[in-house]
Order: sequence, then C-alpha cells, then structure tokens
Amino acid sequence: ARAQAAAHGGFAFEPIGISTDHEIHVPEGYQWKTLVRWGDALWSDAEGAYDAETGVSVEMSDKVFGENTDGMELFDVDGKEVIAVNSEYVNPKINLPAASEGVPASAEEVMLLKNLQGVTVMEVAMGNDGYEVVKDSPHNRRITHETQMTMDGPAAGHDLMKTNADPEGMSPKGTMNNCGSGRTLWGTYLTCEENFNGYFGATGAYDETEGVVRYGIGGEGRYAYEKFDARYDLSQEPNEPNRHGWITEIDPSDPDSTPVKHTALGRFKHENAEMVQAADGRVVVYMGDDERGEFIYRYVSNGFYEEGGSTEGLLSDGQLFVAKFNDDMTGEWIALTPDATGMSLEETLVFSRIAASKVGATTMDRPEWIAAHPAKAEAYCALTNNSKRGGDGMPVNAANPRETNEYGQIVRWVPAGDDHGADTFNWDLYVMAGNPVVYDNAYAGSENVTDGNMFNSPDGMAFDSQGMLWIQTDGDDSNEGDFEGQGNNQMLVGNTETGEIARFLTAPNGAEVTGLCWNLDRTVAFVGIQHPGGSWPDGNGAPRSSVIQVWREDGQPVG
Ligand code: FEO
Ligand code: CA
Ligand code: CA
Ligand code: CA
Repeated sequence: ARAQAAAHGGFAFEPIGISTDHEIHVPEGYQWKTLVRWGDALWSDAEGAYDAETGVSVEMSDKVFGENTDGMELFDVDGKEVIAVNSEYVNPKINLPAASEGVPASAEEVMLLKNLQGVTVMEVAMGNDGYEVVKDSPHNRRITHETQMTMDGPAAGHDLMKTNADPEGMSPKGTMNNCGSGRTLWGTYLTCEENFNGYFGATGAYDETEGVVRYGIGGEGRYAYEKFDARYDLSQEPNEPNRHGWITEIDPSDPDSTPVKHTALGRFKHENAEMVQAADGRVVVYMGDDERGEFIYRYVSNGFYEEGGSTEGLLSDGQLFVAKFNDDMTGEWIALTPDATGMSLEETLVFSRIAASKVGATTMDRPEWIAAHPAKAEAYCALTNNSKRGGDGMPVNAANPRETNEYGQIVRWVPAGDDHGADTFNWDLYVMAGNPVVYDNAYAGSENVTDGNMFNSPDGMAFDSQGMLWIQTDGDDSNEGDFEGQGNNQMLVGNTETGEIARFLTAPNGAEVTGLCWNLDRTVAFVGIQHPGGSWPDGNGAPRSSVIQVWREDGQPVG
C-alpha cells in the first residue's frame, strides 16, 4: 500500500475521472453497496413497507429509514455499532399520491411527511455480504418532527419560547431540517437544524418582526403544515419558530432518552457542529450558518471536560462568539455579550444573526461543514458558493474574494498558541474551487485545482484518523458551461500538508454527497447519497436517497 500511496501523491488510491451517469463510481480496488435506502424497514413489522409505486404508508412512516440522508456519526455502544443519521427533508412529490401534486391534503399526509424526516438511530452489523441494519435492535429509534424534547441554556423558558401547547417554554417538540452532524467528546450525537424557516406558514395575519425577517420566516410553508397543524401557523403560534434552529443532543445509547435542544449554542441555520477541546479542557464547538453572507460561530463552555467526568452544563453554560476574518489574514472571535450587542443574553441566543451583525462579523460565502484536524489545532470550513457576493452589503473580502462566487472555497484557521480556546487566529484558504479549463483568472481556482480533480460547491467535510480531509460536494452537476469537466457531485480527499486533492467517488447525477462516518475498525466508510436522480439505486421506480458502504477489496482501512 505504501508504494501505491507514493505513486499517487500520498493517496492510497488511483484518483478517478468525472462521471455523468446515474451510478456510483469508486477507485480500482474499492467496492460499494447500499446500506439502507429511504423506506427500508428498521423493525421487522415494517418489512416491505416501501412500494415502488406508492412509497410508504403513514402507518409505517416512523418505522422505516427516512428520506434525504445527511450528516451521520457512528458510535460504539457496548461493542455494538450504532449510527445516528439525519433525514434532512422530504420530496412531497414522490411521497404523496400523484394527484396531490406534492401538497398534502390532510393531517394524515402531513404526518407522513413529518415522520420521514428527522433522525434515525440504528444498529448496524457485518452480515454475509457487507454491513446491514440490525432490524428490531433495541437501539433502533426514529426521532421526528413530533418527538418530545427538552431545552436547556439561558433562553430555555424565556417568553420567546412560550406557546399555547407549552406555556413554560421548556418542552419543544421535534427537530427539523437536520442537516450536518457532530459528536460530543462523551459519545452523544449532535444534530443541526438548518432551513427550519421553510416549515412555517400563516393562515392569518402575523407580525413581521426583525427576527422573522432576518430568518426568512413567513409566507407559505413548503409543506403546507400550517393548514393542518396550528403549531406551524405563525398567526396562531408566533413563537414556535423560535424553538427551532438549534443544536439538539441525542444519546444514541439510550433509546428512551429525551433529546435536548441547547440554546447556549445559538439559533441560526445550523450546518454542523464540530466539537474540540481548548488547551485548558473547556469544550469548543465550531458552527456555520449556511446562508449567503451569514457567519461562522464558536461556542466555548465555562466548565472543563475530563474523560469520564461530568458533562453537566458543558453545552448550557458558556459563551457564544462570532468570527471576524481580517484582510491581513488574522482573525478574531468576538463574544456576543449583552455589552457588545446591546441585546439581552436570551436575545443574543434566539437572534444570533442580529447580534452578530451588530459586532461586525465577517459575512461569509455560505458556511457549510466545519472539520477540525484530529492531530493539530486547525479547523476548516467549506464555504460552498455565493451568487450574491459583490452585491449590496456583501463586498468581497480576503476570505471571500470572488464576486458571484459559483465555485466556493475552503477556509482554514489556526488558533493562536495552537489553542482552540484562544480568541485570535491566523487563516488562509486551503483551496479555492474553480475551473482551470474555462478560466485563467481567479475563477480557475487555486493552484491545487487541476483539470483532473476539479469540483464545485464543497459542503460536507470530515477528517479521517490519518489526518486526510474528505470533501463532499453539493453543486452544479450539469457538466456544462462554467461547470464543464466537473461532472456529477463527488467526494474527494485532501492532503492538508501538501494541498493536493484527489477524486475518490462520484455520485449518481442529480445527487449530492453528504454525510460520512466509518465503522469501528475503519475498514468501511459510510457515505450519504442525497436526492439522487434517475431510478438510483433500484434501477426502477423513484430514486431513493441512501447510505452506502465503501470498502477496500484487500480489507485495509479506508481512512
Ligand atoms: Fe443542508 Fe447547508 O446544507
Ligand atoms: Ca450541506
Ligand atoms: Ca449545500
Ligand atoms: Ca442538501
């Protein structure tokens, strides 16, 4: 393997070319297979629940794997391998009867859509032919828009959280639009609510407050929930959207545990949550807000974590900061305190975007996943693209240097003193994606982008145990015009020492690649394929978002 690695710029595989078909491609010497598809049973009484013509019935909809897989993490639960995985959204046109044209006609159809989203916790195990979901495992669990949760941190119980159904403002239901993921140092799952705004609508008049406007809430809900469920109707429950847009912690080892929404980590369109530790033992969580011109945040606990020690207060008592990337390649974390923002502590958390704008944070090109190097103090954020960069209120800056940025870049920061707890850092761009065949200016990308590895719209990211950065894309897969030669969305591997980047996997046309974790001995990588096109993977019927497994034929580790 070493000779092979040396032959390919430090990569243990021969990089692959682009694809434009409806298949998955991996390098020579690797294999792939689906692990679980939208509609596959998690319990044996739901076997056969998925029908290629009609999808899944409402009765079975919370007993199967949800649609549009996204962030995921694998946990060692008493020696069992348990994956927690997000289902970000549903495609109503393929889940509802054809006559509905994608608009639910009843409370029952709304429930079907709610149940096919959220989070799945499932045990997996090696079977006769690769990994399989362990049906009926006591660890299996579905968490949906209806699951009872609790809330902690400064904003829990605040007036902004109170609704008719929950006058104490402490007992929210459900987590929605679960995009990226994270894991705590103590082995729990963090799921991130991203485009929660789209789930709310109004059947009557409502207040267009600054918060409603800044978070893009209002108008018509994307799934018409508000017509059948007052919880989603702004004219009846104006505070319900305040109970979404949070990081939610789930204990994958206890299927009866109550998920906790952590208000101390701020409310925005959360992409993922990357937890590391400061030099003194405080817990640090890096988080991106995926919208054009929004920000990168950091949370630092007041308490300290020691392995096996108490976790009390670590995600409820701390300080939220926002990043400023200076043009001289220094940067700072600005604390969102009442003094700095002129807002109450609770308001800085519920309306973090507004607070961050007040302190002069740097507008970014859609912050997606953040990944921290496992062996040294460095963090990376995928800035996926930004069609509005250069427009009103969003001038170019050194970290977001291109107008109408359709390719994206990955920014890297190194905290002062190699300490994630430090309030200053130095930064650079690890890569600027681009097209060196079409352009010979900044849109060609940085030097580590070539006609052999080019891509657009980096999104999902994770480091493997060897310190290699795996990069997943969610971009334009037309293979035309500015994107000619880039093909379908893909997963690449970046060497962060040399800058080299090599293409490892290509997705079916129409899909993005999002979500990556490994089995316990790292011989299998699990990869999420969201919103595929064609009839992938079944070859007939609707396309089915799936988690796949990828392994080396010689049984060596994949990362
Ligand atoms: Fe759900 Fe920003 O990706
Ligand atoms: Ca994403
Ligand atoms: Ca994206
Ligand atoms: Ca997506």
